[in-house]
Amino acid sequence: MVESRPRVWVSQPLFDDVVARLGEYFEVVSTRDVTEYSPAQIAEALSRADGALVTLNERIGSDQIAGAPRLRAIANVGVGYNNLDIPALARAGIVATNTPEVLTETTADFGFALMMAAARRITEAERWLREGQWRQWSFQAMLGADLHGSTLGILGMGRIGQGIARRASGFDMKVLYHNRSRLPEAVEQETRASYVGFDELLAQADHLVLVLPYSKDNHHVIDARALAKMKSTATLVNIARGGIVDEDALADALASGRLGAAGLDVFEGEPAINPRLLALANVVLTPHIASGSLATRRAMVALAVDNLIAAMGQGPDAGRPPNPVSA
Ligand code: GLV
Repeated sequence: MVESRPRVWVSQPLFDDVVARLGEYFEVVSTRDVTEYSPAQIAEALSRADGALVTLNERIGSDQIAGAPRLRAIANVGVGYNNLDIPALARAGIVATNTPEVLTETTADFGFALMMAAARRITEAERWLREGQWRQWSFQAMLGADLHGSTLGILGMGRIGQGIARRASGFDMKVLYHNRSRLPEAVEQETRASYVGFDELLAQADHLVLVLPYSKDNHHVIDARALAKMKSTATLVNIARGGIVDEDALADALASGRLGAAGLDVFEGEPAINPRLLALANVVLTPHIASGSLATRRAMVALAVDNLIAAMGQGPDAGRPPNPVSA
């Protein structure tokens, strides 16, 4: 009799050649198409799985695992894992993992790109040009804000925040940060970043980049009150999670000139976008692509595969997945 192998569910198309390694250990159930699942469809897929490789699209909580008695491990392809209810998974004895480090530099690159695009009005200017509105070179058209010599504020000084700080020295920027806890002095020196309180960060930053992990404690931490403390010429960049920013308050600030510009890669209801943001010229909007270089997305999947194999008790690191996450 052929012994049946553990079954893993791969929720989205994720580079077949990278995912193929799972086939050495498991029966793999996957999809050829990018798929939008209902909560019930996720529960159904998990009910027949021993393990799962999922993306931040798939929200998994107690309802999705209630009928999944065999499920032992969920590997999230992403560093953020607010799509997973970690306490509920832990109670059920399910190990969860994420993909830190491999995306740090790519995501920091993109934070910088979005900051530059918003501050220098790159996408707004391109739209204007494509619309045929450029009749004559104009001295006063599309004037933006400088990065060089300005003050960069970073909210959330983990690996990606530190990567952004390192890049800033090439632009001769003064770097301020705020974080749950202050970094060791050696890291502050290496990143040339100074710790300040939250309100001071808001008040001093010419450009403020949000890179903190989302939790219900920082839901809408950038709200009308916080935005009112920022410079009216400042740029706000969000590459963290949409729920950190109150988008209506941001739209008010951008529309009224109380804030200079914004660059947003993440949205509270993504892929739905607040229509007020869509109508504004002074905000650059991108579809959650900060980690999206080909090499990095492949590395993220490879790491998630390593994590799943190990968390399922297979391979050279059996039982010791490199990136377990806890609440
Ligand atoms: C993407 O947003 C990630 O968390 O990796």
